[in-house]
Amino acid sequence: MNKKAIIVGASSGIGQEVARLLLADGWHIGVAARREEPLMALKATAPERVEVMTIDVTKEDAGERLLILVEQLGGMDLYFHASGIGKQNRTLTEDIELRTMTTNAVGFTRMIGTAYRYFAERGNGHIAAISSIAGTKGLGPAPAYSATKALQATYLQALEQQARQRKLDIRITDIRPGFVDTALLNDDFPYPLMMKPETVAKDIVQSIYRKRHVRIIDWRYRVLTKGWQLIPRWLWRRFKI
Ligand SMILES: NC(=O)c1ccc[n+]([C@@H]2O[C@H](COP(=O)([O-])OP(=O)(O)OC[C@H]3O[C@@H](n4cnc5c(N)ncnc54)[C@H](OP(=O)(O)O)[C@@H]3O)[C@@H](O)[C@H]2O)c1
Repeated sequence: MNKKAIIVGASSGIGQEVARLLLADGWHIGVAARREEPLMALKATAPERVEVMTIDVTKEDAGERLLILVEQLGGMDLYFHASGIGKQNRTLTEDIELRTMTTNAVGFTRMIGTAYRYFAERGNGHIAAISSIAGTKGLGPAPAYSATKALQATYLQALEQQARQRKLDIRITDIRPGFVDTALLNDDFPYPLMMKPETVAKDIVQSIYRKRHVRIIDWRYRVLTKGWQLIPRWLWRRFKI
């Protein structure tokens, strides 16, 4: 197999696990994030099949750096976007809200756009990104996180329709996990129904292979999100979460 994937946000958590699984499946991968050390550690596991690039998705040169990484890798069949930040922000601290917007909305749009234009020119490709179940309802404890995840999901849906209308063979997969035990949830809050990043990554890789459009992980969160879609706004605002 000589398939090539770029994983942005591969330095920890779910992105790192997906990178490991793709490597184990024989993929050639390009990995990116801000922290170089964990990326180099990934490279050390299969030096001839891993390319590394530090990328900060909030910086203007991030798209350019992605294309350099694609060139180093010798092409890209799959773009996987795992970069993201998220914090509870019950006091609406401005810095947290704005940094979340810059990373999850502006950075996301920059990177997904670069990958989409690359695939549009090539004629085909696959974009998969981790949004979240948090984007399916406005969550009081984390307004910017919840809103940016909704933006990501809507953006991916729009691209899916655009690709079809332009007759581009670009597949889009929107991954929506529930709570996963990663550095992102490093506060003391007792998150329920916590999943392991390894398990979630396995589901993601299978969802990519099956070319799913949307994948909510796992079944308990599929039930939960279906349920809360039915809750009317007047009742939702009374919910204590
Ligand atoms: N954990 C959960 O419960 C959960 C649930 C649903 C969805 N998600 C989503 O899953 C994705 C991965 O999160 P995770 O849980 O695996 O957390 P994580 O371990 O904190 O991973 C986040 C990744 O994003 C990268 N990143 C953050 N800011 C970046 C920036 N400005 N430029 C480039 N890369 C950046 C980090 O790398 P550097 O710090 O090295 O840059 C890291 O590789 C996120 O989009 C998150 O919203 C997580």
